[in-house]
Amino acid sequence: MTLLKAHFFATFVAILLLLSSCTKAEDPISRTTSLKDAAKGLFSIGVGTSANAMSTPGAMDLLKHEFDFVTPENCMKPVAIQNKDGLCDFREADKFMKLAEKNGVQIVGHCLVWAKDDRTPPWFYQNGDAKASKELLIARMKSHLAGVQGRYHGRINHWDVVNEFLSDGEGTWRESGWFSTCELDFIIEAFKTARELDPDGFLIYNDYRAERKGKREKLFKLIEHLQANEVPIDAIGLQGHYELDDVPYEDLEFTIGKIREYGLKVVISEVDIDVVKRGRWYQDDGAYREELKTYDPYKDGCSEEILKQQADQYAKLFEVYARNADVIERVSFWNLHDGQSWLNYFPWKRENHPLLFDRDLKPKPAYTAVIETLKKYRK
Ligand code: GLA
Repeated sequence: MTLLKAHFFATFVAILLLLSSCTKAEDPISRTTSLKDAAKGLFSIGVGTSANAMSTPGAMDLLKHEFDFVTPENCMKPVAIQNKDGLCDFREADKFMKLAEKNGVQIVGHCLVWAKDDRTPPWFYQNGDAKASKELLIARMKSHLAGVQGRYHGRINHWDVVNEFLSDGEGTWRESGWFSTCELDFIIEAFKTARELDPDGFLIYNDYRAERKGKREKLFKLIEHLQANEVPIDAIGLQGHYELDDVPYEDLEFTIGKIREYGLKVVISEVDIDVVKRGRWYQDDGAYREELKTYDPYKDGCSEEILKQQADQYAKLFEVYARNADVIERVSFWNLHDGQSWLNYFPWKRENHPLLFDRDLKPKPAYTAVIETLKKYRK
């Protein structure tokens, strides 16, 4: 080859390489497998994300290739929609709906009531300078449901009606303005209203760590209370935010079994497996927080060994789900890929790797492990 030819050839190769790296995230999905196909006949597969994230290169291709359902990460929550008295802001939620619908992905309504003070628009609790009465608070809740469920009627079927009412501490129920004003009646009214507004809706109560000993007894008490009051509830949502080496397989199996006995379905609503574990953040009254704030062990990538452990634990988790597929309606992940996970900044900033897809939207060992597990059980 002459020098000139070699020079042209090298330039050509460099341009090709450059082009391929620029379009890395935009590759159309060429693999023939997908999570939703592997899970066919067992349960639907979903993911929680935002309209912005869905609009990044490659994200929507990945989402519609792999998932049946999408849950709006934040834009449909009460504080996003009704932060001011009498003013509903549906702009973000509408944008989300439009994008998902245009791409043929089903949507989860998340969430109509969040039984936590910092997740409830503060004005809900007030009547001028006085505290809102039970009647007023429930009327506001009903009008919120009518606004959201009315707007998206027939376009959303799965509704997270109430989120996170069980206490993590000694009490049974979470202390909040909802509970102190209405006791459990706001939940009863929320489900009854949701059913009136959407007779065909699939109505879910959603909570975290609810499969674990100590908290699950509270969940069963809640189910019994709701059923004694003939509340129209279809399913329990077990969020599934786990940490590596602390996935509660047996607890999960036990709790799913109990939910089956109550005649309810299960939704696994927000799965991830944190590899830069956050448990110590909460230990000993926050004693390790200064140290953890700069703890970022996988900022240059996660070791193969950890990825393998994560894959094994995802496989074992999906064994539990697949074995109980008769009662599990949907399994949703919380966020689309590692770069987009909430665990990159909660409860401190770090580079996390909790999901099935990496930052380039490429499947990780955990993806293959989940697909292989599902295939064993697929009908
Ligand atoms: C809870 C909520 C979700 C989300 C996650 C953390 O699980 O249900 O909407 O806020 O926390 O991101």
